[in-house]
Amino acid sequence: MTSLNDKKILLGITGGIAAYKSIELVRLLKKAGAHVQVVLTKGALAFVTPMTLQAVSGLPVRTSLLDPEAEAGMGHIELAKWADVILIAPASADFMARQTTGMADDLLTTLCLATESPVIIAPAMNQAMWKHPATQSNLKTLLERGVHTIGPESGAQACGDIGYGRMSEPLDIYNYIDDFLSTSSDPLPLAGQHWAITAGPTMEAIDPVRFISNHSSGKMGYALASAAATLGAKVTLISGPVSLNTPEKTTKVDVLSAIDMLEACRAISEKSPIDVFIGAAAVADFRIQEVATQKMKKQNGTNEMQLNLVKNPDVIASVVSESMAKFVVGFAAETQNVIAYAKDKLAKKGLDLIVANDVSRKDIGFNQDQNEVTIVGKDITWSPNKADKTKLADLLVNFIIQHNR
Ligand code: C5P
Repeated sequence: MTSLNDKKILLGITGGIAAYKSIELVRLLKKAGAHVQVVLTKGALAFVTPMTLQAVSGLPVRTSLLDPEAEAGMGHIELAKWADVILIAPASADFMARQTTGMADDLLTTLCLATESPVIIAPAMNQAMWKHPATQSNLKTLLERGVHTIGPESGAQACGDIGYGRMSEPLDIYNYIDDFLSTSSDPLPLAGQHWAITAGPTMEAIDPVRFISNHSSGKMGYALASAAATLGAKVTLISGPVSLNTPEKTTKVDVLSAIDMLEACRAISEKSPIDVFIGAAAVADFRIQEVATQKMKKQNGTNEMQLNLVKNPDVIASVVSESMAKFVVGFAAETQNVIAYAKDKLAKKGLDLIVANDVSRKDIGFNQDQNEVTIVGKDITWSPNKADKTKLADLLVNFIIQHNR
């Protein structure tokens, strides 16, 4: 039996061509034993009819906030309380915008405001509309408020364009809801996933008492580990030397050098496959060619000392080339041409996403509590506002969830 049996699902359908797919979605949910109350927006009525949805759901379809007859049966507040989950599929750009502003000018937006149950949206729109900063900013706000999202997918669109914006397939939405409801009464979106996150600096020994390192505090990586663990992921934190407390519900593996870090990643991925790998560590690019076994002494008569350095392995590039993780996210600390260099690294290292920031600024980044970043993917660039690293970590983790489907 699926977790959908006897569950009360309020399915909102908004105006978009993908609305026709929601008929199949209702059929799947009903077959699994769910009670499905369909609400159509005015826009949806142009694409599907109440009659069709009533036939598949077995319940009269609600279309209006101001329908005295329907309200007499179950008022909108009662309906908002009735639902175990509100699912909006497809969620149009217009609907997301209205939901973001907190409007309550029709039945569906009102229900979203009045419910205390989880709200899941399956966005669907033209790829340019999806990429538009207005939609991305609305998405960010909705994610911050705890709205869950599935999709959109990338591919050919009804309008002829190609890109992100297709609604997820009914079966994928069905499986998502099934998982969502089965995890617990308050399901965690990352339950069952293993995330591995590198953090902090590496320390490259010169001799038994000296080393080369950098100013990374580890704050960003630790905040990401904490955010992913809070959302239910099993998190392994591969940490260089930092003075931070290990976040709750994470497992920490301490490393010193870049080579240690790479070996730790290999061992971790062999033991438990990694779903998402985030390279937030500031890995030293070079190490001492030959580490002295004894403390190096000052040489009489010379004011100079030569240290021979050799290139370290690129940990994150190895994670990609050795297929240690399904989805890989890197960081790029730059002082100029931030986005262009980040895009270059994304391609060269074969990453799925890269988080770029400008380390020439003194108010953000290294050792600071705040950061301002741009997330760059193959088809997407998103710059959330400057924020505390903990807040930014929540946003990044949600962004990764959104793009790792
Ligand atoms: O090439 P660059 O050091 O700017 O790339 C930064 C990204 O690559 C970060 O995600 C960092 O953790 C990762 N990196 C790595 N191993 C290296 C150098 C960088 O994993 N040797």
